[in-house]
Amino acid sequence: MKNKVQAFFLVMGGLVIAAGVVYGQLKKGYYSPAELGSLRQPAPVELLSDSSYQAAAYPVPVVDLTPGDGRQEVQIYCNTCHSPRYITMQPPLPAATWEAEVNKMNKTFGAGIPEDSTRKIILYLEAHYTVENRKQ
Ligand code: HEC
Repeated sequence: MKNKVQAFFLVMGGLVIAAGVVYGQLKKGYYSPAELGSLRQPAPVELLSDSSYQAAAYPVPVVDLTPGDGRQEVQIYCNTCHSPRYITMQPPLPAATWEAEVNKMNKTFGAGIPEDSTRKIILYLEAHYTVENRKQ
C-alpha cells in the first residue's frame, strides 16, 4: 500500500513538472497558438503624391572587342551564357589555348556554335588575343 502511494505521488510530481515546462515554453512564445497564422510586418510605405521616379536602361558593360573578321560571330555566339567580357578578362593566351577554350564552350558546355562560325571565332581570337598580338 505504501509503495502504491509513493508511486502515485511520483507520477503526479512528474506530471506537474512536465506541465510546468510546457507552460514555460508557451509563455516564452514557443508553439503559442495565439501566434499561429499571423505574420508581423510593417505596413506598406505610403507613397507621396508628388514622388518622382526615373528609369534608365539597365547598365550593361560595353565590351570593347578588337575590330576584325570574326568579331560579329563572337558577339553573337559568345554572348548567350556569359558576357563576351570573359574574353577580355583573360590574360593574353597562346593560340592553342584559345582553340581549346572555344572547343570547351562547344563540347563541354554545349554552346552548339556552327562549325564555320566556330572556325571564324577561333581565328579571330588567335589573331587578336594572344601573347604576340594582343593590343587591348
Ligand atoms: C553554352 C554556354 C556558353 C557559351 C555559348 C559560351 N560559354 Fe564560355 N563559359 C561557359 C561556362 C559554363 C563557363 C565557366 C563558368 C563560368 O565561369 O561562368 C565559361 C567560361 C568561359 C571563359 C573563362 C575561362 C574558363 O574556361 O572558365 C572564357 C574565356 C569563355 N567562357 C569564352 C567563351 C567564348 C570565346 C565563347 C564563344 C565561342 C563562349 N565562351 C561561349 C559557357 C558558355
